[in-house]
Amino acid sequence: MSVIEEIKQRIDIVEVVSQYVSLTKAGRTCRGLCPFHSEKHPSFFVYPEQQSWHCFGACNTGGDVFSFIMKKEGIDFGEALRLMAEKTGISLPSRFEPSARSDEKERLYQISKAAAQYFHNSLLNSPAGEKARNYVANRGLSLETISSFQVGFSPSSWEALKQYLTDIGYTKDELLTTGLIIETEAGGTHDRFRNRLMFPILDNKGHVTGFGARALDDSLPKYINSPQTPTFDKSSSLYGINLAAPAIRAQDTAVIVEGYMDVITAHQSGFNNVVAAMGTSVTENQVNILKRLTRNIALALDADAAGEEAMLRCVGYENTLDAEVKVIILPHGKDPDDVIREDAQAWQELVAKALPVIDYTFNMVTSELDLTRAKDKTLAVGKLLPIVAEIKDPVRQAHYLQKLASLVNVTERRLEAELRRTKPGRSRRRGEESKPESASQVLRPLWSSPPEEYCLAILLQHPELKSLSQQPLPEYFQSSENREIFTAWQQVSDLSSLKDKLDTTILEHLDFLANKSLPANQIEPKYTSCVLRLQEEFLRSLATKRGAALALEAELGGTAAELAKLEEQGIEVSIQLGEVFTQKRGQSQGGKK
Ligand code: UTP
Ligand code: MN
Repeated sequence: MSVIEEIKQRIDIVEVVSQYVSLTKAGRTCRGLCPFHSEKHPSFFVYPEQQSWHCFGACNTGGDVFSFIMKKEGIDFGEALRLMAEKTGISLPSRFEPSARSDEKERLYQISKAAAQYFHNSLLNSPAGEKARNYVANRGLSLETISSFQVGFSPSSWEALKQYLTDIGYTKDELLTTGLIIETEAGGTHDRFRNRLMFPILDNKGHVTGFGARALDDSLPKYINSPQTPTFDKSSSLYGINLAAPAIRAQDTAVIVEGYMDVITAHQSGFNNVVAAMGTSVTENQVNILKRLTRNIALALDADAAGEEAMLRCVGYENTLDAEVKVIILPHGKDPDDVIREDAQAWQELVAKALPVIDYTFNMVTSELDLTRAKDKTLAVGKLLPIVAEIKDPVRQAHYLQKLASLVNVTERRLEAELRRTKPGRSRRRGEESKPESASQVLRPLWSSPPEEYCLAILLQHPELKSLSQQPLPEYFQSSENREIFTAWQQVSDLSSLKDKLDTTILEHLDFLANKSLPANQIEPKYTSCVLRLQEEFLRSLATKRGAALALEAELGGTAAELAKLEEQGIEVSIQLGEVFTQKRGQSQGGKK
């Protein structure tokens, strides 16, 4: 038995949760007020038999004891495991100690820090830094700003940095790992960053994790960045977070811009709550970092790109954040750096005028339409309803449903019916009798789950299957260690980057999965049917939990509204289960042909 399993067996989820939530025990379940969202009526349930929890309210999510602690304490899996190990008095094997890996990381941070100092010094003092000094002066950066952001200059030499860093004791291999030098095909190495303005990227603890580097003229690429390394993952980094965090907390708002220079100019003008996503779309990991500081996020978006970004992703950010995301729309062809340098006041006004992303999307869609015409009403509903359908928070969803209904002048009930059909994974045959739940369905503890492990093992050993459309959702994995691996695996493409991303405590389990023996042929249909099976198990278990919740609710004299809500969720689950059966049938018929 693995240590993770051992800890799960020794821990009682009811006992753990009770330290945070006052639970009422009744029959086979316990319930209380959800600790993750505010509510007056308890919709948070704990299932001692399955050692799991679920919130049927706004969160509509659940998991095992680790995911509870992780969510509640805002810590990662490894930290949660260590906490639980301490509680149960189980001593973790020394390979689980964070020290070995963190020593290595610590050394990489030191190297990057030394490099940042080297670049900074060469900007300030070297003769070769002259043109870079002129460049930053032209862009209006003050000495104070240059120093607080540690802006630097990389000389145009092929090995100046390598020379410097090896002289102070770091090895070639370490430098390769940080991405500061590159291996050539001939087997030699050279400095990655040459003749560029250097922006060190720091994490919220103040470690230098990577670099952005700008050309000093119009040559391309304009920017190059550090590659993915054990300390640097661009999609989980926010440029400026080390300097912005206190202001974000104090003002209870974070502004996300696109570029390095946008952040620097904003801070120089006193707007200190600004960070950059560094050119790419904002990721969930970035939102998660900010979530610890504030629930109010505003995204500065290009007028041209705003529409698409808002439509495609923002509701996702809102669901992650469990709050509203606003958009700041920039004037055509300008970035925050341009706006602020022209007129700081104008920037402040843009920020003050920021609109909640859904309202913005509504405006954008309807501005192109004439809502007195039937055809345009259909268009508006077609574009906006799927967005409303994505909103997880039922109160906000109801708000926007109302707004849409009055815009197109139809009753809310009509739209609500339509909404059900829009929701992902839901069948159109809503009226159909739902399958009765099997009475023998028993909740099993989640110490380990063979179907989860089988599915994950296939996916790890056959990364090409990641491109199939039929994929599990993270919540299908009830075991936190499996969920962790699955989520991380979606963000990287090879096992070694996956290992870098995961906590040491999970590596043993990962090795087990990566080496699990699997059937040699027909792996794709096996994977697809295994995903369906996971989905089915997930839905069945949800149905059973909901049934238990419903029974308890009735027993304790819940109001009609609450009972109806649970019934409603039950119907949804049944319909989704129906879908799974249909797909399974389709699959087995397809296989026979
Ligand atoms: P921009 O092209 O808008 O650059 O890219 P910028 O920040 O305004 O830079 P200046 O004002 O021209 O100096 C926005 C961000 O996208 C990323 C960088 O993080 C940049 O700050 N980017 C852009 C890259 O990573 N690589 C590129 O080639 C270009
Ligand atoms: Mn710019």
